[in-house]
Amino acid sequence: MNRFLKVSLVATLCAALLLAAGCGGGSTQSGEQNNTSSQTQTETQTPSSGESTTSTSSEKQVEIFSWWTGAGEAAGLEGLIQLFKEKHPDIEVINAAVAGGAGTNAKAVLASRMSGGNPPDTFQVHAAHELLDTWVAADKMEPLNFLYEQEGWYDAFPKGLVEMMSKDGNVYSVAVNIHRGNVVFYNKKIFDENNITPPTTFDEFFTVAETLKAKGITPLALGDKEPWTALQLFESVLLGTMGPDKYNGLFDGSVAWDDPGVREALDIFHRMLQYINEDHSARNWQDASQLVAEGKAAMNLMGDWAKGYFTTDLGLKPNEDFGWFTSWNTEGTFMFISDTFGLPKDIKHRDATIEFLKVLGSKEGQDVFNPLKGSIPARTDADVSKYDVYSQQAMQDWSTNKLTPSIAHGSAASPGWTEKIQQVVTVFATTGDVDQALSDLVTAAQEELK
Ligand code: GAL
Repeated sequence: MNRFLKVSLVATLCAALLLAAGCGGGSTQSGEQNNTSSQTQTETQTPSSGESTTSTSSEKQVEIFSWWTGAGEAAGLEGLIQLFKEKHPDIEVINAAVAGGAGTNAKAVLASRMSGGNPPDTFQVHAAHELLDTWVAADKMEPLNFLYEQEGWYDAFPKGLVEMMSKDGNVYSVAVNIHRGNVVFYNKKIFDENNITPPTTFDEFFTVAETLKAKGITPLALGDKEPWTALQLFESVLLGTMGPDKYNGLFDGSVAWDDPGVREALDIFHRMLQYINEDHSARNWQDASQLVAEGKAAMNLMGDWAKGYFTTDLGLKPNEDFGWFTSWNTEGTFMFISDTFGLPKDIKHRDATIEFLKVLGSKEGQDVFNPLKGSIPARTDADVSKYDVYSQQAMQDWSTNKLTPSIAHGSAASPGWTEKIQQVVTVFATTGDVDQALSDLVTAAQEELK
């Protein structure tokens, strides 16, 4: 997996600048809310802005920064915080979550705080490039080798995952979960009533989509008010046309971006957009998943945080109310997304933060967090009985499938490169100009890999 982790200095500087450029725009709590969200905050204190507590803050606090607010997001974190409070009733938890799927707003607020010398005690960051090319490269994080040794984590976490959080022999964060990105959720009733079986190839998808469209049913739900959802759909299509080895090769320079599989992915992605809901640009990811939950659309490609939303927030049952299948042509491959938390340098509450990381990295902590969140534990020793049929299958696949990193969720490419790919996909979704998109993707890769 080391090939995912090449750290380019140019990319790092570019990423830092890009992140810093977005600084003013973020907001905390008061930021964009999920339309469907039942956002709750059980924590003892929530700052009203992106800024941290002042120097008057007590030693017995830990400020946790993430983008987990609202439906499908908050419950896992709340569960973890409750567990932490049971173990440490004397430590006050400050939940500094910033609303916006995939860190849409949180990443800019974080960049502002980090560059302003006001780091949160710990923050959500994806394993690999999003962690290593930015805060680790900028020497803003403490190595956690001591904690891994003390807690036996070198044996508890998969070696490949630890590598994705490491640089030069030091490990810089603790993974709380593994999400899957290449999964399509579908409404069981719509499929049953229309005698549809999961369309696992692109051809089958288009046949099913035509049938559904002819009956007035929206085949594919998309909510790209936050553009990362379209990138997530595109990357899964790309995985389907390239296969895992060539997909991975796109990010280490061994496969060119003008490969015919990239053109094919752009063609298919654009064709798929003929089958989405008209109001896609007004919806966030929960709103799109909700269309499937309510029988207003048949399918939705989304990370399995959508499974958390269905089961934890909407009370739906896997295999009864909704079904799922590995996205088109990607059976046997697991597009992974891992949320991790580290220990920034110069924080206000180092001791309390280490205690929080211990809970987050514990078997007990992961088995509280993940059944609510829809993800599976990053640790290999989970209590499988705590997980539903969907997650048990995901655990099986995670340990046996080929692994590919997600572009949309920070592991495949540096933040600067990711941003460029995002822009190409966003523009392409509107113009449909395949030649232009291909040429822009090739240029972005050349700039990154030169
Ligand atoms: C991802 C993150 C998930 C989930 C999702 C939607 O980037 O890894 O845990 O929060 O965004 O916001």
